[in-house]
Formats: sequence, structure tokens, C-alpha cells
Amino acid sequence: MKQRSTPITHHTVPVVTIDGPSGSGKGTIGQLLAKQLGWHFLDSGAMYRIAGLAATLKGVDLSQDASVAEVARAMRVQFVPAGPGEPVRVVLDGHDVGDELRTEEGGRRASLVAALPGVREALLEKQRAFRQAPGLVADGRDMGTTVFPDAILKIYLTASAELRAERRYKQLKEKGFDANLPRLLDEIRERDQRDAERTASPLKPAPDASILDSSPLSISEVVDRIAALLQTRRADCSW
Ligand code: DC
Repeated sequence: MKQRSTPITHHTVPVVTIDGPSGSGKGTIGQLLAKQLGWHFLDSGAMYRIAGLAATLKGVDLSQDASVAEVARAMRVQFVPAGPGEPVRVVLDGHDVGDELRTEEGGRRASLVAALPGVREALLEKQRAFRQAPGLVADGRDMGTTVFPDAILKIYLTASAELRAERRYKQLKEKGFDANLPRLLDEIRERDQRDAERTASPLKPAPDASILDSSPLSISEVVDRIAALLQTRRADCSW
């Protein structure tokens, strides 16, 4: 596959990948784990959301792989750490775009551009650049399969579509956005299907991933389980 041919650099820096469908809790769990370890964090979904937004702002048709890929390659993205308890600020070409990314429309655009092989290729190096000492926790769909195939630990986090829709509903309400539960459930199912059926990096566990169902667990229980798995892996490895 084209993406796999890109050389992997900085391979001495350990990576934990957390892949899975939207709403499985990957983002929250990945950030908590990164904080606990003192490692960097990559929200790769944000990269696709930003690419979708950047292309839209430039009036590019989101079905045109080469044009969206060109925008994705050229865009300048910064994740600026904010104060304690505040979300990281996302800056695209000098403008704060955080609010526009997390809307349902932002998710829809991301899912469209994520199906384009040229866009995935364009974002590959940008994602690998996050691999910095002392380590990286990378959250997404293909972190363990394509972007960091040599990760020290690969987690595939799942949860039922109903539970994920409920979580998303609560999140949106808390942020003061309008939300409709049945519609969110439909959108989640649609997006899962599109992410799983696309030919470029479909959503599926890496063969060597540990599969974790977060449905019966609290966030801190999931973080603890991953931290315990990492301890075991570290004991097995030379670092
Ligand atoms: O995790 P998220 O909801 O922010 O992701 C937005 C979209 O981007 C979603 O449709 C899946 C896609 N995506 C992807 O294809 N590969 C990734 N590594 C991360 C996200």
C-alpha cells in the first residue's frame, strides 16, 4: 500500500496507539494517558477535520482528492496548549478554528476527506512528526495499522453505537450545541460504515492490537488498563 512505503523516522521514541470508532472515548482516554505518562498526544481526527475545513474555506470540492490533498499538504497547523482544564487551541494558518472543528458538520467533512487516499498520504508525515521524545500517545483510526505500525502498544477501543451516541449527545449539550439523539445515532452508524468500508486505511484493529470494550468501564478504569498493559510491554522490551 502506498502509505506504508513512506519511511518511518524517530523509531526509538515509543508510541502507544489508540484506535477505534467515534465516541469510544479514545480522545479523553488518550489525553489522560499522555498526561499521566508525560508524553505528547496526537489527535489525528483533528487533522482530518482541519483538512476538511481548510478545503471548504478555499472553496475546494471535498470529493476532489488531488485538490484537497494539495490544501492538506500546504496548511499550517498548530496545537497550542491552553490553561489547565481548557481544550488545546487549534490554529489553522494563524486562525483559531477549534469551535468549527468539533461540530457535526466538521465531523462529516472529516469523514469525507478521510476516504481520499491522496489526503491520507498528505497527512501521513504531518502525523509522524508528532513522534517526539519522551513518547507519543496517538489517537485515531489507523494509528496502529498505517501511521505507527511499530508502536510499542496498540489498543483498539470499542463501545456500542448507542452508548457512543449518548456520550456524544451529552458532550454537545454540555458545550451548548443543539443535539438530537436518534439523529446522532444514525450519523454514528453511517460514519462507522463509511470509515470501515473505505479502501484507504479502513477502520479495523491492527492484527497485534489489544481490543478493549469501554462500554462497562469508567474512563479511569480504561486508562488504568492501558497503563497496566504498557507496563507489561515495557517489562518485555528493552526500554
Ligand atoms: O475522531 P474524529 O471524530 O475527530 O475523526 C473525524 C473523522 O476522521 C472520522 O470520520 C474518521 C476520520 N479519521 C480517520 O479516517 N483516520 C484517523 N486516523 C482519524 C480520523
